[in-house]
Amino acid sequence: MPSPLLSAELFNGHLAAVAISALNELGLLDELDRAGTLHLPTWVEQRQLHAMTVDSLMEVLSLYDIVTRSEDGHARPGKHFADILRTKGYFTWLTSGYGRLFQKLSSTVPLAGREPGFIDRDGAAIALGGRDYGRQFVDEQFAQVLRTKDFRVVADLGCGSAERLIGMVRHGAAEGIGIDMNAGAIELAEKAVKGADLEQRIGLVLGDLRTLEPSPRFAQVDLLTSFFNGHDLWPREACLAVLQRLRQVFPHVTRFLLCDTYRAEPFTSSAGVPIFTLGFHVTHAVMGQYIPTREEWLSLLEEAGWRCNGVHDIGIPSSAIFDLAPLHPQGRHD
Ligand SMILES: C[S@@+](CC[C@H](N)C(=O)[O-])C[C@H]1O[C@@H](n2cnc3c(N)ncnc32)[C@H](O)[C@@H]1O
Repeated sequence: MPSPLLSAELFNGHLAAVAISALNELGLLDELDRAGTLHLPTWVEQRQLHAMTVDSLMEVLSLYDIVTRSEDGHARPGKHFADILRTKGYFTWLTSGYGRLFQKLSSTVPLAGREPGFIDRDGAAIALGGRDYGRQFVDEQFAQVLRTKDFRVVADLGCGSAERLIGMVRHGAAEGIGIDMNAGAIELAEKAVKGADLEQRIGLVLGDLRTLEPSPRFAQVDLLTSFFNGHDLWPREACLAVLQRLRQVFPHVTRFLLCDTYRAEPFTSSAGVPIFTLGFHVTHAVMGQYIPTREEWLSLLEEAGWRCNGVHDIGIPSSAIFDLAPLHPQGRHD
């Protein structure tokens, strides 16, 4: 007999997850962190928000000891606030990013319903969530792995909003090239590059890595990076072809830092399953996107002409930076 408490825990946990996402997106969690205490009626009034909704969501968070509330309307961080503050991006990623897909989940299962465009997700919320957990769990580890400033031109594959590319050009690279096949991402990246006043040093290319052609501009690149788009290139044979192509398109690369989430070992019970992993598995399964294991990555890389000099775990569960170099480097002729 299943425990009668499990159903209540699952139901209420779902509500806590959507409450965290909403209050994160409204900026309340960051503001509470900054200020240490918030007078909720004033906060609500200043932003012209619906007081009953905010109250109700805060009640949910207080039941989980994420915040505490006092009778005079003040909210303060609770016992679990620091944990939720660090992980809040995962909640936005899951509930706001994939909420529309989950709403129609059952209709995505019959094969006849899987028409082009059936995947309904919110790209902006996915990017917002990813930016948040990336800042918490990726950027510092990446800087430690990169260490050296011994590169001139970096190309970021699947650059998305170009936030990381901008960071690399600010802190080391003379020039950067961002490549992404999604027009919306490139548009976002253009705005970000302009906002950072780096148009002279960062170029953006709307292109598909699977069909990228060599060019004099790409021949300048000595560092390649890729954040969370490696799995998009699978299944294996397709990814092998792209990794081999990268050797031709970027002949003078000396290092390739490929950062991605891989398939976790199968779990035998829900106890001990970390945050994010199941969400990543389920969403990609629905989208029909194969996620390789860490071992599958390692067995592919060498075959594709890349030596793996190290695998560095990062703070996102089942995620790592593969530190690669060309197996047979080509000399510079320029
Ligand atoms: C999960 S997002 C990661 C974005 C960014 N690197 C980051 O870490 O925030 C993956 C990105 O890879 C891009 N992408 C996927 N497959 C691609 C391909 N074949 N060619 C170019 N870009 C691709 C997507 O459009 C998307 O912007």
